[in-house]
Amino acid sequence: MSNASKPDPGRRRPWVVGVSGASGTPYAASVLRGLLAAGEAVDLVVSRASRLTLLDETGIAFRDAHWRSDLREWLALGADGKPGAFAVSEADLADVRYWPAGDLAAGPSSGSYPAKGMLIVPASTACVAGVALGLSKDLLQRVASVTLKERRRLVVTVRETPLSGPTLKQLVMLDEAGAIVLPASPAFYAGATHIQDLVDFVAGRVLDAAEVPHGLYRRWEGELRGGSKEEADPS
Ligand SMILES: Cc1cc2nc3c(=O)[nH]c(=O)nc-3n(C[C@H](O)[C@H](O)[C@H](O)COP(=O)(O)O)c2cc1C
Repeated sequence: MSNASKPDPGRRRPWVVGVSGASGTPYAASVLRGLLAAGEAVDLVVSRASRLTLLDETGIAFRDAHWRSDLREWLALGADGKPGAFAVSEADLADVRYWPAGDLAAGPSSGSYPAKGMLIVPASTACVAGVALGLSKDLLQRVASVTLKERRRLVVTVRETPLSGPTLKQLVMLDEAGAIVLPASPAFYAGATHIQDLVDFVAGRVLDAAEVPHGLYRRWEGELRGGSKEEADPS
């Protein structure tokens, strides 16, 4: 039997993380930290527009040629902008591959490239439209189309408010195509006291959708807090 027909049990199967140009780069940082903490391999695609949101929200000018040091600086930032809030080493980034958004020949642009699926965090409405219509205008949108055609998990963490009629229709199109539409919509039942808690709640729900274990937020256990029902009942 030739080597070509042997299965490769050690084959790398990354999650592709696509960062598009919606507000919410702390969500992406939290998802990336969560994937790496869980031992997942990551392929990263950062859209051209997301460099503007990254610059605006973190002060980092993300560069293709220096992506590893820029990513490390980004992942170390707290959601409140505090540098060094998270310890991120070179070793933590060892299983990250970076693909420039203009590289339409990149590995994940083909369905034959092994990947578990794709998490778009955050997803702009332009990205939602492009993926819903199959535009593939850049690598991020192409990988999303590939993920859908290969019937792999695609999570679209849309961030916009209010939503227009066309975007709502495109979100339904994505749902019908098999994607999980997961609005960046933090909840307050998990006992958030800091901005990082709200960010981690959304990131944790993204990882839940990918079935990646994490401890990013406190799960609901069926008990209301803050007083008994009698105290809450005015009658
Ligand atoms: C600072 C900033 C914040 C933005 N926030 C959002 C947002 O929250 N949601 C959104 O849909 N677009 C937002 N945009 C607009 C997108 O960046 C724009 O539509 C872009 O074309 C998206 O391209 P991409 O999907 O290829 O990344 C923002 C732009 C800037 C500069």
